[in-house]
Amino acid sequence: MKKVAFPCPAGEYPVWVGADSRAAVAKAVEELAPSAVYLVADRTAWEYHGTEFAGLGETFLFEPGEGSKTISVWSSILEWLAERRADRKSLLIAFGGGVAADLGGFVAATYMRGISHLNVATTLLAQVDAALGGKTGLDLPQGKNLVGAFHHPIGVACDPRFLLTLPERQLRNGMAEVVKYACVFDPSLFEELQSGEGSALASGVAFFESVCLRCIEHKAAVVREDPEDRLGKRALLNFGHTVGHAIEAALGYSGIYHGEAVAIGMVVETWVGERMGMTESGLTERLRELLLEWRLPVGLDGRCRIEDVVERLFLDKKAEGGRIALVIPARVGHAEIVSGVSAELIEEGLRAL
Ligand SMILES: NC(=O)c1ccc[n+]([C@@H]2O[C@H](COP(=O)([O-])OP(=O)(O)OC[C@H]3O[C@@H](n4cnc5c(N)ncnc54)[C@H](O)[C@@H]3O)[C@@H](O)[C@H]2O)c1
Ligand SMILES: [Zn+2]
Repeated sequence: MKKVAFPCPAGEYPVWVGADSRAAVAKAVEELAPSAVYLVADRTAWEYHGTEFAGLGETFLFEPGEGSKTISVWSSILEWLAERRADRKSLLIAFGGGVAADLGGFVAATYMRGISHLNVATTLLAQVDAALGGKTGLDLPQGKNLVGAFHHPIGVACDPRFLLTLPERQLRNGMAEVVKYACVFDPSLFEELQSGEGSALASGVAFFESVCLRCIEHKAAVVREDPEDRLGKRALLNFGHTVGHAIEAALGYSGIYHGEAVAIGMVVETWVGERMGMTESGLTERLRELLLEWRLPVGLDGRCRIEDVVERLFLDKKAEGGRIALVIPARVGHAEIVSGVSAELIEEGLRAL
């Protein structure tokens, strides 16, 4: 079991990466000595992997999917806790992917003005991103993540064994974020990922353990350097996301996974960088090849109208007067935030790819 110290305003919390997550969680519970433990779990993740955790406390199962990140599910869980007389010293364990972390975290942020919580992350996307960093929240019919709060967990468990039951598309979805970390921070990870998916997937648990650990360390380092997001360093984690979010929104958040949209976004943003002379020539092609190897999409391919994506880019808070801020890689392992990119150039990229 490896441990990464993840920074937060109150200090840091442990992120455990390894196959013995049950023991790490049990030890943390013992040290905290809560009045009671309540689990909020994704039904599918729980059916596969919940057995080891069942003895820790009572469990609320929610239906898998984004549809559970709602006010109504949130209030059902609050009432469920209140009926059980959960108190300020109770501990909540959010068990599942990014939805569990966002929903369970928001319950913990709001029940009795905040109780402690711990994330057991069961998807690759949650292990390398969503379960870390303290952002919690819900969707509204008007838009995604419109309700939320910062509430840091007291620990996060990332067990690579859990990833072996993920549907392949979910795994690839998480791999897009891994490619993002590799591109922005880690040339050797980029090379490893290039060296063949077959062999990588074949090495299973060991592969995911090492990949997750490196991504978590990169995210922790950025947050540690720029805890209040003053230097803009944290924005580096948004590589591929400006265009990716616009694609997700243009598609009404259906039919495409977040990581898939980010994959297309990374290619477009790198293409723009090459056109602006800021990116090493040939990087777009290398990135495209890597993403294709992981069977991730690298262009819109008629999924939606390019005009709709461009319109969404302007709604993005980063757009100022028709110019857009993008994270552009100069080369693998080094990226910069570039403001004032013209929307026409991004549109051209979307058409070219
Ligand atoms: N708070 C943040 O910083 C942050 C960052 C990125 C994403 N997010 C949020 O995360 C969510 C997406 O997360 P996600 O991709 O993990 O989706 P998810 O939580 O919906 O999980 C994806 C699917 O995998 C299933 N699943 C989970 N673990 C499994 C396992 N071990 N084996 C088999 N199936 C399993 C789930 O039942 C679900 O159907 C979005 O709501 C997004 O807004 C939050
Ligand atoms: Zn993302």
